[in-house]
Amino acid sequence: MSSQSPKNWRTQFTPWRAAGTKTEGGGTADDVVRETGWVFNNETGKSLTLADFVRTGDEEVRRFMRHFGLSTDRLATSTLLEIGSGIGRMTAAFTNLCARVIATDVDAAFLERCHQTIALHGRPERLSTVHVADGRTLAVSTDSVDQVFSYIVLQHCQHDDALALTSEAIRVTRSGGVIMLNYRTWVPLDVVLIPLGVLVRLLWRLPLVGKQLSTKRWATRFGWQANRLSPDEVLDHLSQRGELRYLTDVRILHSHRRQRSVRHAGVTVGILKRTNRSHWWLVAKVSK
Ligand SMILES: C[S@@+](CC[C@H](N)C(=O)[O-])C[C@H]1O[C@@H](n2cnc3c(N)ncnc32)[C@H](O)[C@@H]1O
Repeated sequence: MSSQSPKNWRTQFTPWRAAGTKTEGGGTADDVVRETGWVFNNETGKSLTLADFVRTGDEEVRRFMRHFGLSTDRLATSTLLEIGSGIGRMTAAFTNLCARVIATDVDAAFLERCHQTIALHGRPERLSTVHVADGRTLAVSTDSVDQVFSYIVLQHCQHDDALALTSEAIRVTRSGGVIMLNYRTWVPLDVVLIPLGVLVRLLWRLPLVGKQLSTKRWATRFGWQANRLSPDEVLDHLSQRGELRYLTDVRILHSHRRQRSVRHAGVTVGILKRTNRSHWWLVAKVSK
């Protein structure tokens, strides 16, 4: 484990540390994308470039902002915090759209590369980075940002860390701001995926074999699916902590391929096209 490893190390951090170590090598930004890009957008190929990689993030950011009702005018004067930025696939677009962007990640090496990505494809003067040292706390002041965004991150955290980061998102967002958080919930295939994930995470603990395995895509894709959270579970957590009262216009957005309802009154459930069947979003205004 390197000195930049998070406090209270968890097996869930293993694949990010393995990819982060690779990004610490001296390769070019394009080399980094060819070697580690798949951990962020699942694309592989010897001819991948950083520009292609950032383009995929650009398209997704514009689509999500449109769906979530955040206009370019509004973003232009705002501070956005991204939980789990990785090497900046989507962060580049955010720096082009927002006045200020705080990229956060559990892996400090990714954040170094994120600066490089934004230097080439974004607005570096608008970017700051914050290491999520314990995997669950944002070292950012309360009520200091206008939006918190997270995509394909909370599913990779330990269950309680994902809930803690959800609370953190609300804490750091000032009144009038918006949270946009993506989660993964149960699908029938989980009968197979969950035990395989547990097995791979156990194997990651083995000396030598574990280190080798953590760089393999086939194994990583099982091991990194660390938790499943339903909308009700997240809303219950917020309700129990008295944080649900800080949210208005609460929307749960999911794939058109599943039916969903929630127990909590006043929550709108809707469809977001091109959403993975297992994914869903919590999008809400913060009113404190
Ligand atoms: C699949 S990647 C997605 C990155 C980025 N959102 C994107 O779409 O390109 C997941 C990212 O979440 C980060 N991550 C995983 N667990 C985390 C945690 N507990 N806190 C913060 N970041 C975390 C990983 O290091 C990795 O960069």
